Amino acid sequence: MKILSIETSCDETAVSIVEAEGVAESPSFEVLGNALFSQAKLHEKYGGVFPTLAKREHAKNLTPLLLKALEEANELKELGKENFKNEKEIENILAKEHGLFQDFKKYLEKIDKPKVDVIFVTNGPGLEPALWVGISFALALGKLWDIPVVPVNHMEGHIASVLVNSNESSVQFPALALLISGGHTEIVYIEKVHKYKILGKTVDDAVGEAYDKTARMLGLPYPGGIEISKLAQYADEKDLPRVAKLPRPLIHSKNYNFSFSGLKTAVLYYLRDNFGDKELSLEEKSDIAREVDEAILEVLTVKTKRALDENPVKTLIVAGGVIGNPKLREAFMNLEKEYNELKVRIPEKTLSTDNSIMIACAGYIKLCLEPDLLTYPQQIRANGNLELN
Ligand code: KG4
Ligand code: ZN
Repeated sequence: MKILSIETSCDETAVSIVEAEGVAESPSFEVLGNALFSQAKLHEKYGGVFPTLAKREHAKNLTPLLLKALEEANELKELGKENFKNEKEIENILAKEHGLFQDFKKYLEKIDKPKVDVIFVTNGPGLEPALWVGISFALALGKLWDIPVVPVNHMEGHIASVLVNSNESSVQFPALALLISGGHTEIVYIEKVHKYKILGKTVDDAVGEAYDKTARMLGLPYPGGIEISKLAQYADEKDLPRVAKLPRPLIHSKNYNFSFSGLKTAVLYYLRDNFGDKELSLEEKSDIAREVDEAILEVLTVKTKRALDENPVKTLIVAGGVIGNPKLREAFMNLEKEYNELKVRIPEKTLSTDNSIMIACAGYIKLCLEPDLLTYPQQIRANGNLELN
């Protein structure tokens, strides 16, 4: 089955063409075309994602990215004549998405319908204005080319990201997933494909948010996770003295919940009490960054180990942007040595942050379980707080 997938839940705009086959329990994927634009640099001055800007940028970039992904997949065929079916309906669908209809008409009216069987689009969780752009775009394409459109949960996408470019296409169940991103921190028990139980989640900030906010306090650019991990590495390489001490919030609590806002506040007080208005040296920043990195690593690993001890599983999946962090990757891979017969699955680095390949994968698995979605497509609405269920 050939898939066109679209992701716009936050500040990455992404479109992919993926060939998928196999059953839900052991699917296989081949990426034929992939185009992604990260808006991170544009949001830098706001210290986080600015929803109106994200929405406008998605609208601006979706059509060029689609053309790029189609071209890469060898599916971009000029017709040499106009082929713009359902123009009025498409205009209505795209009415609220700034400039998208004009682009759509200009670039797509002379393009032949690609050989695509289904369009998958993220409908949540995420920023609703951003999600709506992707959804409207997907629905307009579905209308133009008469292809069914099916919504996909972004977090299911992160879970499925471990299946791409992996030697093993299947995950052994039951499994546990630790999802760590800019918007989420949760431990999910997965009894079998698509059967989720959330064991615990953050009661305040997500772990990626903790990285981004503490990075900002240290004067580092957004997104801060990668900056903190680079400085932490520098502190390790230089073997800098360990001066900063930060708390490990909720590390001893008997549940699987997380809390990261205390860590952020602790950094704020640490900076105020020890530095005031003074500019920090690279060494001082790196010492704090290493402590932030280690506090997060300890909390995440201790909680995950508790969950593994109390809920024995065959596979641990760790996914989401934060697992780009090299120390975390190593710490979680090492759990294979500690837990007999546990397989740890982590997406390759480029697939840990938001992308549309993972949306194709999660959508395909969903479709294997509910093939009727092709014949009777659902109404699609953006849901910023969409839960795994
Ligand atoms: O999954 P993702 O791309 O977007 C959301 O769905 O939120 O995750 C983005 C988050 C950001 O908070 C970013 O700072 C964090 O992932 N991140 C990292 C690293 N690379 C990205 N955090 C820690 N270490 C990294 N190397
Ligand atoms: Zn994400």
